[in-house]
Amino acid sequence: MNEERLWEELGPEGFERVVAAFYRRVKTDDLIGPMYPQDDWKGAERRLAGFLKFRIGMDQAYLNERGHPRLRARHMPYEIGEAERDRWLQLMGEALDEEEVAGEARAELDAFFAQVADFMRNR
Ligand code: HEM
Repeated sequence: MNEERLWEELGPEGFERVVAAFYRRVKTDDLIGPMYPQDDWKGAERRLAGFLKFRIGMDQAYLNERGHPRLRARHMPYEIGEAERDRWLQLMGEALDEEEVAGEARAELDAFFAQVADFMRNR
């Protein structure tokens, strides 16, 4: 993944907008929506956006707040099989469509999300 180019293209605000569009969908999703903390959507949004800004833009705020991501361990409490993985990716795809992330940036993000989402499978 070419992090530098992605960061130039989306910037911190771009990632924040994509994550906001994603959680707008997650909130009402019948399959994965109920897994999320119903009283802390703003926090969930902040954690995912923070992680992406850390992973792609080297922004250290996530690391300072949450420590090392340990994403697989942090997803263990949730039952994630193929259906949940596919739904997550579907909603993220719709969010990227809404924000009109296209071209190479889109191809790179699609591949990145697909890889991480599959790694989160624990059932
Ligand atoms: C495969 C399907 C997935 C499901 C069902 C899922 C579900 C969840 C849930 C329920 C949470 C807790 C919400 C919170 O309090 O923050 C969470 C947290 C998180 N997820 Fe996922 N997730 C999935 C895939 C991914 C992917 C692909 C990424 C990254 C590319 C990701 C990144 C994160 C991050 C950064 C957090 C917050 C970790 C922390 O700092 O505590 N997740 N996820």
